[in-house]
Amino acid sequence: MRSIKAKLIVLYSLVMIAVLSVLSIILFLSLRNIVYKPIDSSLLKRAKSIDSMIKNNSFRFSFSDINGNKYSFSFSDNRLWVYSSRYSKYFFQIRSLQGETLEKSLSLGKMSLPFSKNFKRFENINFKGKTLRLLNYVDPYDRMIIQIAYDTNREAKILNNFTLLLFASIALIMIASAVGGFVVSNRALKPINDISLKINRISNENLNESISVDGVPYELEVLVSSFNDMLKRLDKAFKQQKRFISDISHELKTPLSVILMQADMALKKERSSDEYKRAIESIKEKTDMMSKLIEKMLLLASLESKYNKMSFSEVSLEDLIKEAIALFAHKADKRGITINIDIKDRCSVKADRITLLEVFSNIFDNAVKYNKENGRIDVSVKKADRFAVVEVRDTGIGIPKDSLSKITEEFFRVDESRSKKTSGFGLGLSIVKRIVELHNGKLEIDSEEGKYTSVKIFLPIA
Ligand SMILES: Nc1ncnc2c1ncn2[C@@H]1O[C@H](COP(=O)(O)OP(=O)(O)OP(=O)(O)O)[C@@H](O)[C@H]1O
Ligand SMILES: [Mg+2]
Repeated sequence: MRSIKAKLIVLYSLVMIAVLSVLSIILFLSLRNIVYKPIDSSLLKRAKSIDSMIKNNSFRFSFSDINGNKYSFSFSDNRLWVYSSRYSKYFFQIRSLQGETLEKSLSLGKMSLPFSKNFKRFENINFKGKTLRLLNYVDPYDRMIIQIAYDTNREAKILNNFTLLLFASIALIMIASAVGGFVVSNRALKPINDISLKINRISNENLNESISVDGVPYELEVLVSSFNDMLKRLDKAFKQQKRFISDISHELKTPLSVILMQADMALKKERSSDEYKRAIESIKEKTDMMSKLIEKMLLLASLESKYNKMSFSEVSLEDLIKEAIALFAHKADKRGITINIDIKDRCSVKADRITLLEVFSNIFDNAVKYNKENGRIDVSVKKADRFAVVEVRDTGIGIPKDSLSKITEEFFRVDESRSKKTSGFGLGLSIVKRIVELHNGKLEIDSEEGKYTSVKIFLPIA
């Protein structure tokens, strides 16, 4: 059963049935007790008085008990008319312990009260279409059984009516509670319907909207606020995606128009081979740039995908850093920049060697690109808690404080003009950040404009 409504109604009804049944049983038993108690005590009183009359030995009916004592008794005796009117509502029968009838009242006529060996003291019996309450009274001296029955038709009717009434009210209450359950669950589930209507109105056009929690029950507020959080994340991702696409188009547009222009110019008229060479060189330069950009974007895209092909192994940071520095030694040399390495602790990390090399390449690329002529780059490796910390500090142009937080965003460059000169795309640090995160590490960048930039990478030690 998948419907909450149906579950609520069934549960509600089951609880109702259980409560009502217990209540009805208690009510019925107490009413029966109230009805039969006075009847039972009056039957007992009569039995005892007959018993004592028999003991007075003043009646014509006679028998001997096991001890040989003789007794006599008869209901037809005038003195006993109270007990034996033909139309009395009481019926008497006196039996020996074996069940043999010794005497019975005139009200019984030719009939007999039922008797069996294992009789109960009080029982309800059917007799000539009437309901009788029957007492089987055993004389204390075990001489005989005095049976007395009373016509309880009226009382039985009361009990019957009461039972009928009980069933009818239970049925009514059940129907009412099912309807009530339906109404209550409908009301309880209405806010969910309302919320889903509001959710339906949200599309990629209005992802920035959120669902109002006004009037939403407390229990559903959590759901709504998680949904709103999800919307915010989606909105952010969507906007990022849009910006990414427009940034890419923008980045590709400039080199493409240069290429087109160079090609047009070259084709316009007959040129010297030198002019053709220059045109082709310029086209190649721009194509190289586009190819690098596309390479970086592909790398970023593969890093975003869950199924990137990274394979982790133990990597010595010292070796990896030296390998990365070697790639930039020539570039640094050309600008007179010196690179110093200080390995305070030897650390190994669990990493994908190729992507981690990409991290250090990008950082050294920046440290050389944005350094001053004859500047320095200081690289240190040390342990801090369970992290290996690599710091790359350069004596370069630095990053303004207000740009520090945006530095890892895709296509972000501090100053378009200064980056144009060094031909960066603003993708390097976003790639670094993503790779470091994929290694469960973190990135910290600190800088003072015109003085230094320090990039710290924290990686969990293997
Ligand atoms: N060491 C540094 N010193 C000064 N500025 C830096 C340094 N590293 C990064 N920046 C600034 O941060 C911006 C973003 O850096 P990032 O490496 O992401 O891009 P990029 O170097 O411009 O281009 P790409 O790395 O994609 O070729 C740079 O444009 C630069 O302005
Ligand atoms: Mg860079």
